[in-house]
Amino acid sequence: MAPRAVWSSCVPLTIAIITVACWLRTACCQAVQAENVTVLEGGTAQISCRLQNYDGSIVVIQNPRRQTLFFNGTRALKDERFQMVLFTPRLVRITLTNVSVLDEGGYFCQLYTAATHHQVATLSVLVPPEVPSVEVKQVAVEGGEVELICVSPRSKPAASLRWVRNSREIPGAVSRQDNGKTFSVSNTIHVPVERKDNGAALSCEATHPALGGQKRIRHYRLDVYFAPTVRILPPSGILREGDSLSLTCSVTGNPLPRDIQWSRINDTLPERAEISGPTFQISRLSQTHNGTYLCQAQNDYGRAADHYSLLVYDPGAVVETHSAVPYAVIGGVLAFLVFTIICVLIITIWCSVRQKGSYLTHEASGLDEHGEVQEAFLNGSESGQGKKEYLL
Ligand SMILES: *[C@@H]1O[C@H](CO)[C@@H](O)[C@H](O)[C@H]1NC(C)=O
Ligand SMILES: *[C@@H]1O[C@H](CO)[C@@H](O)[C@H](O)[C@H]1NC(C)=O
Ligand SMILES: *[C@@H]1O[C@H](CO)[C@@H](O)[C@H](O)[C@H]1NC(C)=O
Ligand SMILES: *[C@@H]1O[C@H](CO)[C@@H](O)[C@H](O)[C@H]1NC(C)=O
Ligand SMILES: *[C@@H]1O[C@H](CO)[C@@H](O)[C@H](O)[C@H]1NC(C)=O
Repeated sequence: MAPRAVWSSCVPLTIAIITVACWLRTACCQAVQAENVTVLEGGTAQISCRLQNYDGSIVVIQNPRRQTLFFNGTRALKDERFQMVLFTPRLVRITLTNVSVLDEGGYFCQLYTAATHHQVATLSVLVPPEVPSVEVKQVAVEGGEVELICVSPRSKPAASLRWVRNSREIPGAVSRQDNGKTFSVSNTIHVPVERKDNGAALSCEATHPALGGQKRIRHYRLDVYFAPTVRILPPSGILREGDSLSLTCSVTGNPLPRDIQWSRINDTLPERAEISGPTFQISRLSQTHNGTYLCQAQNDYGRAADHYSLLVYDPGAVVETHSAVPYAVIGGVLAFLVFTIICVLIITIWCSVRQKGSYLTHEASGLDEHGEVQEAFLNGSESGQGKKEYLL
């Protein structure tokens, strides 16, 4: 009987206590709630204080240095970047424009009641990186190595930098420097360079939480210095007296040689020679123009030359052209003959081996246990055939 009485009186009492507690919480006790804010540098932050059961008490908002910004809706600190945009019994909201990293910290939403409530809204400022820059300490010369430094001077949190060539990352040495509120980041790579790398495209990509999935990309083209190459493009066919000669000198190099020099070995250039940069012309050839002509070019990284031997024939001369064509024809005919002989020999050998093989198979059909021997024999004759082919 006794426990039951206790139970029956306890339950309503508990319910009553809970009800009162809830009523106190909802009806009597005011409260304030603050939300954390993340904003990009230069952007506008909204700092909101949510009120519960507001009864007209004074609401004070303070900055991280605990200076009062607004005293119940009235501006207290002379900073026009702060504006009170909303004051309702449920929500007090201020905005801060042109946010800087110095504005970071906890903003206090305070409610002056019997028991002072306060909540802190933490303002975080992100600084996305600019497009990074590329620093080159020394010029790239073929056969050497170039050091490229990608720099992102300011970001928060620190940006990630990667070097990419042909969609592949080039691993580099990353260094990060803390400049107080922001970071400077660099990524240094060493690239061996040949002349084929001249003009090759590289890029340095910066990624950052404030950029979402986007990248800030700096494109960079390798400028590789190399010694010149020189090649004279000769005229085709033979030249006779009265013909005109035109030679072109094809020059490469980085930097491209500005001056192209034409000369004649052990002799002076003919008076009638017309030179215009890479082209050399003689309008009416005579046999006195016979000789070796030279085209030369140079830059800071080296020099190169090519020569052309000019032979001027008599207009009536019957000339046997010692060009490569007849040799090529003779070579072709010889190759064809050799090929035919080899083919005939291979077919002959193959036929004889086939005859031997079928003879053996026929004989072995009665002696199954000698299959291995037959195989070995056939293999042997095959390798023998291979050897013969090789010797041919
Ligand atoms: C707000 O930020 C502060 C400091 O970074 C952190 O301690 C707190 O938990 C955050 N509050 C919320 C609701 O995220
Ligand atoms: C504070 O401001 C609110 C909204 O303007 C007002 O309702 C309230 O009476 C003010 N409280 C005091 C103590 O002035
Ligand atoms: C924003 O603030 C920076 C310094 O933090 C200042 O240099 C700049 O002029 C301001 N911009 C505007 C639009 O007020
Ligand atoms: C140029 O002259 C020198 C000496 O007279 C000689 O040794 C050399 O073979 C000549 N070169 C040509 C290309 O004629
Ligand atoms: C020029 O070369 C041609 C062809 O070899 C030759 O027949 C002729 O005698 C040469 N003339 C002079 C002046 O060397």
